[in-house]
Amino acid sequence: MNTIELIRKKRNGESLSKEEILFLVSSYTKNTIPDYQFSAFLMAVYLKGMNTIETAALTEAMLYSGKVIDLSSIKGIKIDKHSTGGVGDKTSLIIAPIVAAAGINVPMISGRGLGHTGGTLDKLEAIPGYSTNLSLRDYKKVLKKCGLVLIGQTKEIAPADKLIYALRDVTATVESIPLITGSIMSKKLAEGIDGLVLDVKTGSGAFMQKFSDAKALAQSLINTAKAFDKKVIAFITDMNQPLGNYIGNWFEVHESIKILRGEVVPDLCEVSFTLSGAMIYLGGKAKSINEGIQLSKELIANGKAFEKFVELVKLQGGDVSYLYKPEKYPKAKHTLKVKSNVEGFVSSIDTYQIGVAALELGAGRSKKEDVIDPKAGIIFHKKLGDKLSKGEIIAELFTDEKIVLNDAEKRILKALRITDDKPKKQKLIKLIMD
Ligand code: URA
Repeated sequence: MNTIELIRKKRNGESLSKEEILFLVSSYTKNTIPDYQFSAFLMAVYLKGMNTIETAALTEAMLYSGKVIDLSSIKGIKIDKHSTGGVGDKTSLIIAPIVAAAGINVPMISGRGLGHTGGTLDKLEAIPGYSTNLSLRDYKKVLKKCGLVLIGQTKEIAPADKLIYALRDVTATVESIPLITGSIMSKKLAEGIDGLVLDVKTGSGAFMQKFSDAKALAQSLINTAKAFDKKVIAFITDMNQPLGNYIGNWFEVHESIKILRGEVVPDLCEVSFTLSGAMIYLGGKAKSINEGIQLSKELIANGKAFEKFVELVKLQGGDVSYLYKPEKYPKAKHTLKVKSNVEGFVSSIDTYQIGVAALELGAGRSKKEDVIDPKAGIIFHKKLGDKLSKGEIIAELFTDEKIVLNDAEKRILKALRITDDKPKKQKLIKLIMD
């Protein structure tokens, strides 16, 4: 096959065959196509798009660039969840133990945070001793033992994605629906799952800020999951404010423990139980998503979900004493209370800026090599529609770097729009698609 011809074909808006896509992806992974040609191909895809068959072919080529984990030795159905990420989004830590406690296997391979959004791996690594770096053999062992495993990407999983993502990052081709679909689905399908629940976020703190883009991405992910015969349900959920009240790695583990032990944080509980309810439904342990939601609440109330989380952390080497006594976790050296200088209703929050403030406090990374501080973060006290009086605390900031406090405070104050009128309440779960 001729690489230049294939690039030209896509540039002209024609469809590529499965074989042509496989040729391009496997040649690039084997280093027989140079970066400049693959970059041109990526830009052609960015500009001209791909149809459902091409997107599935791209996903398949990326998937089989590595190993597909064989979980056939583990009895029962395997269901996972993927979220496109946001600020304060710690639902994986809550729903994975709930769903495993319902008797469904949850083989979860997660990513790290980058930019303004957090990542499940960084949160888990905030638990002293917890290892996210298991071999595939140990991954299966832990899954077999407790029905749940939570690790990071290994070298064997979709290696093409690592190479292609790095190139997309420097060629302005990240924001392409077929390329995002191939990237997400190749990694998820490699887990050996039977079904997937997708949480595609929309709003000021989301990767896909516009609802129409979120919907198009959800549809593309659904089409691809179906092309691989996987059960799938997608939700479009709101990210116009942080989810829950805690932002930052240990803070988010702490808030997840609170929920698993029965505390109610309304928005976080609604999104978490909807996702776990859908996973339980897909896993065949409930007749509807609503029944799955009810079961999720029961598994919190009877302590089984929390017990499952403790079992997981123990099996992956974590010190479970912090789960029983989260308050003994080391504290950040410096704190600051952000107070309102006006009165009114919180009518919008630039959630992206809240994520950036958390990053600046030490909770995130702007470059892959940056080191995060698990103690750093924000307790965000206000929600959209809340009344605010002058001098009232909006948020508390925590960091070891005193110098960043004032900038983070300014950023947060600027991110809030306060009005005299109470804004209309927005739905958290905006759409269900299957
Ligand atoms: N997350 C991924 O894993 N890949 C993308 O391309 C975008 C978000």
